[in-house]
Amino acid sequence: MNLAILSRNRKLYSTKRLLEAAQLRGHTVRVVDPLRCYMRINPGLAEIHFKGKVLGDTDAIIPRIGASITFYGTAVVRQFESMGVYTVNGSDAIGRARDKLRSMQLLSQQGIGLPTTVCAHSPDDTNDLVAMLGKAPHVLKLVEGTQGQGVVLAETHAASIGLAVAFRGVKAHFLMQEFIREAKGADLRAFVVGGKVVATMMRQAREGEFRSNLHRGGSALRVKLSRVEHDTAIRAAATMGLGVAGVDLLRSDRGTLVLEVNSSPGLEGIEAASGIDVASVIIEHIEKSIGLRKSA
Ligand SMILES: Nc1ncnc2c1ncn2[C@@H]1O[C@H](COP(=O)(O)OP(=O)(O)O)[C@@H](O)[C@H]1O
Ligand SMILES: [Mg+2]
Repeated sequence: MNLAILSRNRKLYSTKRLLEAAQLRGHTVRVVDPLRCYMRINPGLAEIHFKGKVLGDTDAIIPRIGASITFYGTAVVRQFESMGVYTVNGSDAIGRARDKLRSMQLLSQQGIGLPTTVCAHSPDDTNDLVAMLGKAPHVLKLVEGTQGQGVVLAETHAASIGLAVAFRGVKAHFLMQEFIREAKGADLRAFVVGGKVVATMMRQAREGEFRSNLHRGGSALRVKLSRVEHDTAIRAAATMGLGVAGVDLLRSDRGTLVLEVNSSPGLEGIEAASGIDVASVIIEHIEKSIGLRKSA
């Protein structure tokens, strides 16, 4: 197969691993910077150009679209889709996953467990909004944050109000959630590929931190998911329509809660913690999906 990994940086662990795994399995593969892809859109014709040439012979793409380039990145993925190229994650699914508010609404429609989440537009509703959450602490999140940046803990009612006012002041879209204290700074990451949980890890926040993101100094540990956690992760990925997804779960007193579903989940922590070659699993999934397409 002719594969393209859409990534801005070939030195990133995940990009390197996918490249390596695809080559080992005998594929032709290149790393393509989505911001250097340009496109021609005509009636019935879609083209992607890259460094003066038309990218015409790509069988499949693996989008690794960073949060800061969602707009252009998803447009490039959509262009590949218009050309009939297979993608592990579709542009619409990536767009859905990037928006935490939209994700919570979609997961809620399926009855999937979530922390209570509230959101308002008008500053006049801030008091009511915070009251809906009950007693502090509360968590405030930027709707398009990643890697724990843009997730803050408000320890008191006054801090919640103050942060809401501050976020509004800079015109940031945000949501507020109940704080799941009993999770004790740990969460579960389920790596889902093609509707199956292929690897898992538990992430534990470092001392004095509630966010377990590895980018925030959290550590990755081996874990076994319960049947419910396992099924919830699969349902969450399916709800978002993602072929490759990193589902973040919290263990709460009222059961399994989904925090978010990532469309470009990192491979480094999960491969180290689980000992599983997740990159190869992704390439195998593409091989199977393309095989099914051809025989259809
Ligand atoms: N409502 C919550 N209660 C307790 N911990 C939370 C809550 N929301 C987020 N966290 C912690 O913060 C981390 C980052 O939140 P998340 O919603 O996954 O945003 P990001 O996209 O930045 O990773 C989570 O992995 C979890 O450890
Ligand atoms: Mg997360």
